[in-house]
Amino acid sequence: MGSATPMKIVIASAGRRAHYLEWFRDALNAQGIDGEVIAMEYRDTSPGFGLADQAVRMPAYNSAEYPEAIRSWFAEERPDLFFCMNDYEIQALSGSLADELRELGCLVTVLTPERQALVLDKYRMTMEFKKRGIPTPATWLGSDVDEVVETAPRGSRFVVKHRIGSGSSGLEFPELDGLREAVARSARSALGEDGRSAENNPAAVLVQEFLPGNEHGVDGVFSLDGSSELLGVLARRVDKMRDGDPDVATTASPEPFREVIAQVGEVLRPSGSINIDVREDVHGVARVIDVNPRLGGGYPYCHRAGADMPAALIRSARGLPHDPELLEYEPGVTTVRREEFTVISRGGVFVR
Ligand SMILES: Nc1ncnc2c1ncn2[C@@H]1O[C@H](COP(=O)(O)OP(=O)(O)O)[C@@H](O)[C@H]1O
Ligand SMILES: [Mg+2]
Repeated sequence: MGSATPMKIVIASAGRRAHYLEWFRDALNAQGIDGEVIAMEYRDTSPGFGLADQAVRMPAYNSAEYPEAIRSWFAEERPDLFFCMNDYEIQALSGSLADELRELGCLVTVLTPERQALVLDKYRMTMEFKKRGIPTPATWLGSDVDEVVETAPRGSRFVVKHRIGSGSSGLEFPELDGLREAVARSARSALGEDGRSAENNPAAVLVQEFLPGNEHGVDGVFSLDGSSELLGVLARRVDKMRDGDPDVATTASPEPFREVIAQVGEVLRPSGSINIDVREDVHGVARVIDVNPRLGGGYPYCHRAGADMPAALIRSARGLPHDPELLEYEPGVTTVRREEFTVISRGGVFVR
């Protein structure tokens, strides 16, 4: 790809995380690269319709029309770089569809199906990490709750959450006394791997030791050339959560997290950015509780402290040398999330 060719960057299902559209746009400008940022959305009331250079409406990822619609749009438009912000859409793309889009010349930042299946299932992921010596909390299936209740010391605290979950789904913080009921309650709303109801199956729920320490969100930025080289690490302490995303967070040194994110990178071999949630145990050891193989809800806190991950990703996609300064930021910066308002149409006509 010569640097004279305009670069087409697609961000699918950004929804309310539309700040990424603006930051990729800014990054193209700052790097002096000609190109456009395209929002791909299911709803035409998404903020992306007012912010991106171009916005495209796609059928829902779980509809029969989705694969053909995305295939034919890619064949027509030939984008260079593709990110998806929706975990379930990533799941639908991973595998043959992502490979077909890659054959059309696009860098599709989605894991291989085996690795995607691993991060989708919090239980399998935790077991795989444990096997590889990556710190994780003690973890059981909800179906083993009797064993946990019989063996755990009095005063133990737990976390119950959906095995295939996101956005804090099915989350409970019971003590030993309430553990069985919490598993049963969480199982009522749990989903299986196919996205359908798990019908009260306690094995669709996970029981974890409660980690009492600080929680950090950590991004690993990996090269896009297929070598999954770790280009940089960005971290923030989560001070307050709201609706499954940080609401208040304070940037932190990446150094304590470099090794763990590198280890996770070895397992997942990602292209682009992934993010993990880690929490400290009683000894201050940061243990991995969650992995999201995509641009995350926590990166904005590092962006506000000076990082420019979109620029680093664009440079990698273009085959330009990595500029480490783009992933540097000031530690100790506290940022709070707020609402934004974006005009998307006038008189029924989209504007941007
Ligand atoms: N083992 C744990 N100990 C303490 N808190 C936890 C634990 N697991 C999850 N949490 C809390 O619940 C939140 C959501 O859990 P997480 O595993 O990140 O799932 P999700 O995919 O819903 O983001 C975390 O951000 C954390 O605050
Ligand atoms: Mg999480």
